[in-house]
Amino acid sequence: MNLPETAETILVVDFGAQYAQLIARRVREAHVYSEIVPHTITAAEVAARRPAGVILSGGPKSVFVDGAPRLDPGIYDAGVPLLGICYGAQLVAQQLGGVVDAGGRGEYGRTTMALSSEGPAPSVLFASVPPHVDVWMSHFCRITEAPPGFRVTASTDEAPVAALEDPSRAIFGVQFHPEVVHTHGGQDMLKAFLYEVCGCRPSWTMTSVIEASVAAIQEQVGTERVICGLSGGVDSAVAAALVHKAIGDQLTCVFVDTGLLRAGEADQVEATFRQQFNIDLVHVKAADRFLGALDDIIDPERKRKIIGETFIRVFEEAAVDLDDARFLVQGTLYPDIIESGTADAARIKSHHNVGGLPEDMQFSLVEPLRSLFKDEVRAVGEELGLPEEIVWRQPFPGPGLAVRIVGPVTAERVSILQAADAIVIEEIRRAGLYRELWQSFAVLPVVRTVGVMGDERTYAYPVVIRAVTSDDAMTADWARLPYEVLERLSSRIINEVPGINRVAFDITSKPPGTIEWE
Ligand code: XMP
Repeated sequence: MNLPETAETILVVDFGAQYAQLIARRVREAHVYSEIVPHTITAAEVAARRPAGVILSGGPKSVFVDGAPRLDPGIYDAGVPLLGICYGAQLVAQQLGGVVDAGGRGEYGRTTMALSSEGPAPSVLFASVPPHVDVWMSHFCRITEAPPGFRVTASTDEAPVAALEDPSRAIFGVQFHPEVVHTHGGQDMLKAFLYEVCGCRPSWTMTSVIEASVAAIQEQVGTERVICGLSGGVDSAVAAALVHKAIGDQLTCVFVDTGLLRAGEADQVEATFRQQFNIDLVHVKAADRFLGALDDIIDPERKRKIIGETFIRVFEEAAVDLDDARFLVQGTLYPDIIESGTADAARIKSHHNVGGLPEDMQFSLVEPLRSLFKDEVRAVGEELGLPEEIVWRQPFPGPGLAVRIVGPVTAERVSILQAADAIVIEEIRRAGLYRELWQSFAVLPVVRTVGVMGDERTYAYPVVIRAVTSDDAMTADWARLPYEVLERLSSRIINEVPGINRVAFDITSKPPGTIEWE
């Protein structure tokens, strides 16, 4: 994506992916554009990017480990302001002639740091923090001597050099992590580096992102027609709204209603895209076809495969009238690109909604979200006027409720699950927990159990409630839902959903469980 004319870029050198992503996000929260680059970047490559500043991330390794990553030393002489964090600070010290020592006890967690009283004034980074401040540490090795020309600006009991700087070369290092919330004033320190040292202005706003993105889309597609597959999820919705803002009725959205969506989702897509945005929308109602194809299928992998194949066929048929379209919109996000390892990898997401798209459809991709983190995508969605329900919707698997119906997927079982799931969403929202939870939903197992309602014996399905917290779905913790919420869920589901006589709550984390049942 083209950047706003005024954009200044901070390069975040990646010595440990999670640290680098968090730093890059914090920089953007300070309204300065940031990009993550590999630690193998050369001084010439940095110079060619003309960044306003460089930040070296923390990393898991000690600088003494064999093969510990280094920075091209030419980068220190590039005349670009530089801030080393944790491992990055140790590299600054070691590569510029200071001493790093492996003999300390290390510091992990909250630590009180004292600003140095030497020199005319505290470091520019610490202008707004008190002389003693709590910072978050996570290091074993420590810097014991700053390189020539540097002054020590803070220390702790275990780290004689907790912060160091050579303001004449605009090189700074901090042993602690200013990017984590536990460091008091950490974001102010980062802002001081960005604004005071690098001279950045806070120009990376969602308004500027939208303007730049609209211009870039217009330039890329010219007068050609563009297709966007809508899933009901936030990424495709924001991508579609952005492309529509850029090229209006050159865009056609295709929404395949598999009949396996959450209750009310298809209506919401209609209401938002056709009615609110006036987007040309092909709404394919294909529930019967999907359910027909799933008849008698129990094996979860076969369900996925059938849904994927059916989706492709339905999409192809819907797109017959759109065969002059040359571009396809993809909701690829910045973390997908970082994780794919190459910033230019314009490949279709492997976990693309449902089963991917037909291989013989030759499209050029339009990826308006490829520079954005998820929280920025949501902010853009809000700015574009998308409804809260879509912008903040929890992740939903491409194959839809079929993944949450163990055993046969029939119209009756889908509607039982939709009704129970709608109650889960409603009650979780009412309790103010919807945004806190990574996912919260209902699952329909295959067993039936005995119960009693009124004077009648029942023999019906249970519903399992699954609610997890997570940052990235790789690991997840079961959510400690308040008893009152669980009680309301149980009583409402049993009273309001015919066919259910029992409610269970899944208390398995991931690992060993997965988030979905299947
Ligand atoms: P599991 O169940 O493996 O799920 O812990 C991890 C995350 O992935 C989501 N999920 C999918 N997302 N297409 C998707 O776009 C899929 O086929 C799919 N299957 C699982 C799941 O909801 C959870 O957030």
